[in-house]
Parts: sequence; structure tokens; C-alpha cells
Amino acid sequence: MVSASTTFHRLCVNFFLILFFFLLTLSKNTQIYKTINYLSHIATTTPPNKVTTFITYNNINTMEDIAQFNISKLPKKISIRPFLKKDIDELLHLESLGFPSEERCSRETVEYRIANCPDLCQGLFVKNDDGNTQLIGEIMATKIDSEFITLNTMEIGQHKESSDVIAIHSVVIHPDYQGQNLARLLMTDYIQKMSQQSVGRKITIIVHEHLFKFYEKLGFVKLNENDDVNDPNSDFSKNGVWYNMDKELVDF
Ligand SMILES: CC(C)(COP(=O)(O)OP(=O)(O)OC[C@H]1O[C@@H](n2cnc3c(N)ncnc32)[C@H](O)[C@@H]1OP(=O)(O)O)[C@@H](O)C(=O)NCCC(=O)NCCS
Repeated sequence: MVSASTTFHRLCVNFFLILFFFLLTLSKNTQIYKTINYLSHIATTTPPNKVTTFITYNNINTMEDIAQFNISKLPKKISIRPFLKKDIDELLHLESLGFPSEERCSRETVEYRIANCPDLCQGLFVKNDDGNTQLIGEIMATKIDSEFITLNTMEIGQHKESSDVIAIHSVVIHPDYQGQNLARLLMTDYIQKMSQQSVGRKITIIVHEHLFKFYEKLGFVKLNENDDVNDPNSDFSKNGVWYNMDKELVDF
């Protein structure tokens, strides 16, 4: 026979266990709700291009993965979309904030890339309190017919649509917005889009040594020095040695 007090004790234990699991589920759901809510407002306004313009996070499986973006610290009204002609002046300004003159894109190069491979060139925008939209981040890329970037592949006319090698030529976040995980967000979104749309087999990039860690965290592998780009006769290598880094893309 089980005494009344034992039964009462068991009931209490069961009650608190149920309450504990209920609260645990609720807190997780609140986190998931916040995340879904956040992701759903990062959508783009113009869908004219081949690559999907919505951020998707299929390769992010756990709350820990999502936590890397530190969502609560990100600016609220941000969106990512391919560049349009109307963005060119702002884009050139952003390039000038990100790179010294010998490393940055010319107006002609920007115009060429936006006209010929808009899907490979993505902008990160924020809507300010006054309602105006400001460009705060960029990725500019082309497809190239070699495994690694060369001085020639950066030139106007060198985008090779049929190639499966995506070359990122620049990644910039506006200085006022740096250190908030926005480059990571923009790059993760880019890698995801390029993978899901089977745009290419790999992404290649050239970097100076201080950015190895930044790209390694995104899954890039550090390779050799880039002899072509490190040409001593070119101003492009004036600010330090360039290294190749690659990221293989996976099909979903
Ligand atoms: C490099 C750049 C794009 C980073 O932008 P950001 O939004 O500040 O970067 P994030 O906040 O997303 O940083 C993500 C991670 O990379 C690290 N990181 C960012 N910039 C770094 C740098 N310059 N050196 C070393 N690590 C860096 C961050 O510490 C962070 O790691 P953590 O989570 O362990 O702290 C930005 O500094 C920039 O525009 N620089 C000028 C242009 C440039 O050099 N572009 C890259 C070559 S194409």
C-alpha cells in the first residue's frame, strides 16, 4: 500500500517536472520565434535576378549556429539584394572607405560587373530612422576562367559566365557598422545562395595575412601566395602580400 503522503509527494514531483519541461520548451520556442521573426524581415525588395534574393539558413542547424550572429545586436531593418545601377555612386563611396586607391574598383569596373553579373554582386542595406535606405555592405565578384584570381581576371571584360569558379574581388562593411557580425552575415548568406543555386564549384579570394582568421571562420582554406597578383611591377601589391584562400561549395 502506498501511503497518502507518498502519493502526494510523487504528485508534487511530477507536477514540478512537467512545469520544468513546459518552461524549458517555452523559452526555446521564444528564442526560435525571435529568430524566425528576425530572419523573416531580412528579405530583399527586388527579385529580378536568377539567384534567390531571400536569406536562407539551411546550413544552420542549431541554436548555437544562430547565436554566432548575435542577433540582438544587429541593426534592425537590414536587407540584402543584388546591386542595381542606381546603387553605383554609393557603392563607389563604400569602396573608397574600404580600400586604398590602388586596391579599389574603378567606376567602369563596377558598372561592368553590375551589368554582367549582378547576381554575384550583393549589397547589404539598412533603413534609417528617416526612412532612407543606406548601403552599408558589399560583395563584388565575377566568375573567372582560372583556379585563382590574377590581375587579368580583375579586368573589365573578364567575367566568364560559364565558369564554375566564383572570384570575390571585394568585401566591405561601412566603418560605422563594423564589428557587429555584418560581414559574417553577408558572407554566410552569399555562400548559402551560391551553393543552393549551384552557381559555382568554389569561391576563391585573395587576402592579406591579417584577414586569414576572418575567412577561416567562414570555412575558407588558406593556400599559397598568389604570384601573379604579387607582381612587384603592379601597385596592387603595394600594401602587402596577397594569399589565395578557397571555399568549396556544396550542392544542396
Ligand atoms: C573585413 C571587414 C569586411 C569585416 O567586417 P565586420 O562586419 O567588422 O566583420 P564581422 O563583425 O562580421 O567579424 C566577424 C569575425 O571576423 C573577425 N574580424 C573582422 N574583421 C577583422 C579584421 N580586420 N582582422 C581580423 N579579424 C577580423 C571578427 O573579430 C569576428 O570574429 P569573432 O566573432 O571571433 O570576434 C571590414 O573590416 C572591412 O570592411 N574592412 C575593409 C575592407 C577589407 O579589408 N575587406 C576584406 C578584404 S576583401
